[in-house]
Amino acid sequence: MAAPEVDCMNCCQHEHYAGSADGDYGFEVDGARITYGRGVLAELGEAAKALHMKRVAVFVDPTLRERDFVKTALDALRDAKMDAVVYTDIAIEPTDASFKQAAAFASDGKFDGYVSIGGGSTMDTCKAADLYATYPADFMDYVNAPIGAGRPIPGPLTPHIACPTTCGTGSECTGIAIFDYLAMNAKTGIRARELRPALGIIDPDVTRSLPAMVVACSGFDVLSHALESYTALPYTRHARSPKGVARSLSQGANPYSDVGCVGALPIIGEHIARAVNDPSDEVARERMMFAAMLAGIAFGNAGCHLPHAMSYAVSGNVKEFRAPGYAADEAMIPHGMSVILNAPAVFRFTAPACPERHLDAARMLGADVRSAGLDDAGEVLSARITELMKATGIPNGLSAVGYEARDIDTLVDGSFPQKGLIHNAPRETSREQLHSLYTNALNHW
Ligand SMILES: NC(=O)c1ccc[n+]([C@@H]2O[C@H](COP(=O)([O-])OP(=O)(O)OC[C@H]3O[C@@H](n4cnc5c(N)ncnc54)[C@H](O)[C@@H]3O)[C@@H](O)[C@H]2O)c1
Ligand SMILES: [Fe+2]
Repeated sequence: MAAPEVDCMNCCQHEHYAGSADGDYGFEVDGARITYGRGVLAELGEAAKALHMKRVAVFVDPTLRERDFVKTALDALRDAKMDAVVYTDIAIEPTDASFKQAAAFASDGKFDGYVSIGGGSTMDTCKAADLYATYPADFMDYVNAPIGAGRPIPGPLTPHIACPTTCGTGSECTGIAIFDYLAMNAKTGIRARELRPALGIIDPDVTRSLPAMVVACSGFDVLSHALESYTALPYTRHARSPKGVARSLSQGANPYSDVGCVGALPIIGEHIARAVNDPSDEVARERMMFAAMLAGIAFGNAGCHLPHAMSYAVSGNVKEFRAPGYAADEAMIPHGMSVILNAPAVFRFTAPACPERHLDAARMLGADVRSAGLDDAGEVLSARITELMKATGIPNGLSAVGYEARDIDTLVDGSFPQKGLIHNAPRETSREQLHSLYTNALNHW
């Protein structure tokens, strides 16, 4: 009998994680706690009770406030006798200003529990509000260094139950909260294990009402989480943490994060276009929701790299672009779009560092790799990503969202400080290299 394909990956994996004199010899596994399935939102009240919540701040995406599934969730909290206070002042693609406003609400309310119902924008806002209400500090104290002070969070947060409504960011599985830092015109975030929600309640029924472009952008976010985690610098090539200092969330690819990537990539390759183009395809949207969770577990334990680092300047310097289906008052490039526009250029660049993985990823995404050699890995993977972008109405490169060659220095200025992400790439990346990656991302077809 022919050996299953996964065996090949495992033997490559042995070499991939070969030890080195200065590299790390261990990795951390942070498991997410999840309840998954159609209808599980109705269990929210009992779940809150089990976490000893009584007075709950419920962060709800404002455009979803009147949806039946939000009513189901709020009824469940009230049936469990929770004193629930709803907060809807949430920005789509949040900023430091909207995070601070939410933190002020949370601090005033004296809550012993948090619930978020919405996409990444809502879940991340709730994480930040919980953090600053539980451990008050100057806003930049907990923000990633070198942009912020990167101060460690002093202890566990007040329990947070995250209920994602997009498919998705995987934020329900991660200790990450991302915001647009207005002073810098670039996104950055807070990364710490303590931010991970106590529970994620993932109910794929909520995806029925998602606009096509939201499914496309959040789906490519998921795709890139899985690809970046799979191709990140292996943990054995990251410097060892000093004694007593926990490893970073961006600890690099490892055998645990690989499991999430290998689970997510084939699902995405098969279902992303169906989920975008046919809102009645409930199977495809459900599968994408599951892939979002798997990829969230993966990148929450490995870290992303260049497509995300580059995206933070792409979304932060937006000019006039608006995406259909997004409830945003101002010009905005959705997160997943700003990520995937860089991806074909990035994976051509990173492929020589670990061509087997790039080719394997292309195969998992549905590319025909039978006649491809290792030298073709970057091209084959990038071509498959581009094919999926075309099939889902994603714009053709950075030029299609308003950037020109003369903007590239500004984009490099915004992305080069994203050190945690850049050092997690499998190849060293200089400012000049970032410049050429952005140039190559201006047009893809
Ligand atoms: N913390 C993390 O680990 C993490 C990971 C990836 C991305 N993010 C962040 O998450 C944000 C993006 O989140 P997102 O892609 O989930 O989208 P989102 O929360 O920004 O929502 C996108 C749009 O979809 C609408 N929407 C959401 N759910 C809906 C539903 N069920 N029906 C109809 N409309 C719905 C919203 O109102 C909004 O207009 C970005 O700020 C990004 O940086 C965070
Ligand atoms: Fe992302």
